[in-house]
Amino acid sequence: MHTTLDILKSHRSVRAYRDRPVPEDTLDAILEAAWRAPSSFNAQEISVVVVRDPERRTRISQIAGNQPWIAQAPVFIAVVIDYHKTGLGVVKAGREQQIQGSVDGLLMGAIDAGIVLEALMVAAHAEGLGIVPIGGIRRDPQAMIDLLGLPRLTFPVVGLCMGYPAQEPIQKPRMEISAFRHDEVYDASALPSAIDAYDIEIVEHWRRTDRSNGLAWSEAIANYLGVPDTRPVAEVLRQQGFDVTWDG
Ligand SMILES: Cc1cc2nc3c(=O)[nH]c(=O)nc-3n(C[C@H](O)[C@H](O)[C@H](O)COP(=O)(O)O)c2cc1C
Repeated sequence: MHTTLDILKSHRSVRAYRDRPVPEDTLDAILEAAWRAPSSFNAQEISVVVVRDPERRTRISQIAGNQPWIAQAPVFIAVVIDYHKTGLGVVKAGREQQIQGSVDGLLMGAIDAGIVLEALMVAAHAEGLGIVPIGGIRRDPQAMIDLLGLPRLTFPVVGLCMGYPAQEPIQKPRMEISAFRHDEVYDASALPSAIDAYDIEIVEHWRRTDRSNGLAWSEAIANYLGVPDTRPVAEVLRQQGFDVTWDG
């Protein structure tokens, strides 16, 4: 029996899956656990779309930039910010929904989606399944919206592959905890040495895991965070009715 702390501390992403279906009752239990997640204002503005159909999963793997584990894992779950659902309640109460125009509304949706994602991951681990989150669905959000039949005022923020693992990856090291945990006030003084040490440690991790071309952390994130973002997220958000122009 694994405790919740064991599950959280042993996290690793799995990118190879066995050809074994996830039983319906196991999937139901995982989804019920995530359904119980808290949400801001009890808005329950997160919905999930469970995709088991192999053709649809293959299409998602292409949308996400050719990630083969999406086609291989028997279950893919798209986590969706759903202001369509909340809008029905707001209209029922005689008002016009405004939240989709606010920056904080987008943050709220992203935070609550992250909580659902983590609940799915922990529940899946508890059931002996492997997972990997998939942000790659935001490479082409419109294609995901079309594929999943998502209505206006919804947005697919992240996905999750789930299945029985065909590998047990070596756990990826993290930067030392002083770069994560600050007590009382933020203390940046330990960051440069923590980053230097981690750059060395992760290259060693890549060497141990036969990925000798793996980059130091600084270089790897520079390739993502230090280049212009070409994903059409803002454009598709606007098309979906999220006209994020005001505070509040
Ligand atoms: C929101 C989110 C999106 C992610 N998107 C992808 C993805 O599209 N493809 C992928 O292979 N891994 C993806 N990952 C997995 C990260 O690469 C992984 O968590 C990170 O490298 C740390 O490795 P670990 O999870 O094995 O500890 C994502 C992780 C998160 C939290």
